[in-house]
Amino acid sequence: MENLEEIALLVNRCTDCELSQGRNKAVPGEGSPDAELMFIGEGPGYHEDRLGRPFVGPAGQFLDDLLMSIGLKREDVFIANMVKCRPPQNRDPSPAEMSACSKYLNRQIELIDPKLIITLGRFSLARFFPGESITRARGKVREKDGRWIYPIMHPAAALHRQENRSVIVNDFKQIPQVLENLGQPSSHSALNQTSEPQKEPAPQAKQLSLFSS
Ligand code: URA
Ligand code: SF4
Repeated sequence: MENLEEIALLVNRCTDCELSQGRNKAVPGEGSPDAELMFIGEGPGYHEDRLGRPFVGPAGQFLDDLLMSIGLKREDVFIANMVKCRPPQNRDPSPAEMSACSKYLNRQIELIDPKLIITLGRFSLARFFPGESITRARGKVREKDGRWIYPIMHPAAALHRQENRSVIVNDFKQIPQVLENLGQPSSHSALNQTSEPQKEPAPQAKQLSLFSS
């Protein structure tokens, strides 16, 4: 897979998992090949499956608004998904499907080489931080395998629950500052930062203070 166009061609005729059977159009992902920001969602929904483009339904409209709130258009970033074909009835993608599809996303990340990856929702969060809850992980930039990851809630969560909206809007507003403060990726946790004051010490710190008191 030499370039993004080739990935899209392969995705469009991929039959490596059963999601290929129900799709109208595969959704390889789209945006700038030089994007500093890469967004990773879950998988295509009804509208995406019709058009072959990511985030073009109601959640996508909200994502466009969020991008505009920080002075960006979707052409400035790259938008991809964990699975490239729509799960029937929008069910969760299965581990086997995500694993069959990961080769495409992995190569997209390599080729785009974004400064910051923004995971949308729990499935793309789990790709980098398996087992972590979105409630705890969201709004904090952290390094994983030499890349900076900033997890936020899925924009669709705001459409279901109004109280999620301001959480997403606020996490999104931090993105320019997060980008500006990024150092070189390394494995030093001292580079960590958070978009809001931490209300409680990290579990590790808590444990240490138990021992020292
Ligand atoms: N939700 C997603 O996770 N991805 C899309 O492309 C659209 C909606
Ligand atoms: Fe292939 Fe991914 Fe579509 Fe499955 S979801 S058929 S692995 S492109």
